[in-house]
Amino acid sequence: MRDVLQIRRVATGHELELPISEATIRATDLRQLNIGGEPLATFDPGFFNTAVCHSAITYIDGDEGILQYRGYRVEDLAEHSTYLEVAYLLLNGELPTADQLAAWEETITLHRRIPDKLKILLAGFPYDAHPMSMLMASVAAFFTFYPESQDYTDPECRALNIARLIAKMPTLAAFIYRKGKAKPYADPDDEYGYCHNFLAMLFKQAERKYAADPRLIRAMEVLFILHADHEQNCSTNAVRCVASSGNDLYTCVSAGIGALHGPLHGGANEAVLKMLREIGSLDNVPDFIAAVKRGERRMMGFGHRVYKNYDPRAKIIRQAVDDVFDITGVNPLLRVAQELERIALNDEYFTSRKLYPNVDFYSGIMYEALGFPPEMFTVLFAIPRTSGWLAQYQECVTDPELKIARPKQIYTGPGHRRYVPMAQR
Ligand code: CMC
Repeated sequence: MRDVLQIRRVATGHELELPISEATIRATDLRQLNIGGEPLATFDPGFFNTAVCHSAITYIDGDEGILQYRGYRVEDLAEHSTYLEVAYLLLNGELPTADQLAAWEETITLHRRIPDKLKILLAGFPYDAHPMSMLMASVAAFFTFYPESQDYTDPECRALNIARLIAKMPTLAAFIYRKGKAKPYADPDDEYGYCHNFLAMLFKQAERKYAADPRLIRAMEVLFILHADHEQNCSTNAVRCVASSGNDLYTCVSAGIGALHGPLHGGANEAVLKMLREIGSLDNVPDFIAAVKRGERRMMGFGHRVYKNYDPRAKIIRQAVDDVFDITGVNPLLRVAQELERIALNDEYFTSRKLYPNVDFYSGIMYEALGFPPEMFTVLFAIPRTSGWLAQYQECVTDPELKIARPKQIYTGPGHRRYVPMAQR
């Protein structure tokens, strides 16, 4: 039986039948109903209930706390995969064979270096420039080095530039980190895998080879896997929106980095650490919780638009934190975070609003233990999210349903006014 939604406008008795498909109606079908000369539209700031694309990449069940990439549970990928394997999966739809993975890793290794002129660009930023701003500007600047990426309809050209950007993100991030510390850049080491090389470019001193603890390399792989994609979040929506006007992928990812920087999105990991430092000790936790409940503060790292249950990524990070602390020593802020979580999970304010820890609640504590300053935390989110953004970009620009993003507004300004000459104002 055809599934339809019947709508009746009480004032006029007009009736409309809207086909239901995939649990949605087409918003444009509503235009058939005319309300005082205006076609009927929906009002949905923040896209609470509006699907903007079909996507076969990532699935989230927010009530059950389930996250899957291309059908694979993120818990399984975090246990068994590497980040580059997951990036391949996101981009190609299938897990790679051993040969495919080896070829993919080789391609990524080949493209790790960044142009010398980009180093000059980095040198021009103020000494205390925020790493996310430098990352955003540098990724946008990549288009000046690879203008052929504008030809995004050519699959080969697209694949080359996707590999380039995934390869260069850790190098760029490590150079930005070292610039902040006024340390000379450490070039990529082709003998190392993606995460080991990243740690080496960050922390290498005068030694010839940087031998990272394998448990830290694994922790980095897991963090990267967990952050790789998250369907239509704010930054992915920014990437798709900029792609919809026909842009190259560097411009689009740069827009995604800007969106990610906000404290309500990826910037929450930095904000969590600042919040924990400000609370400082267990004694101050009750006062902080009371301020949150009065609406004066927000508990950063808590709550999510989609998850109305414990974020599965937060669960995995919470477990991994202990492994990292075995190596680095315990971050004393962990006890403050645990106390906040304990109180919140038993408090009506949080339980009635289904506010649980999200991915950012424990990641900052781990990043700090690994030696990163808080301003770098969101950069560590952006590196792996690049594969998700690019998988979404690729899906977007090859989508026959793609239309330039152009929402409606409800105009609330003045009606037509006669122009008033300067002398009469
Ligand atoms: N602390 C205190 N109250 C909160 C919080 C919070 N972190 N999050 C939501 N609320 C309350 C909010 O005040 C509102 O209460 P009321 O109904 O009384 O007005 C209710 O819960 C619903 O909140 P909302 O702001 O309408 O929900 P949203 O879906 O628009 O916002 C969110 C989602 C993630 C922006 C929000 O939960 C938040 O600001 N969290 C803190 C920032 C954060 O941790 N962001 C990282 C998200 S996970 C990483 C990523 O993928 O971006």
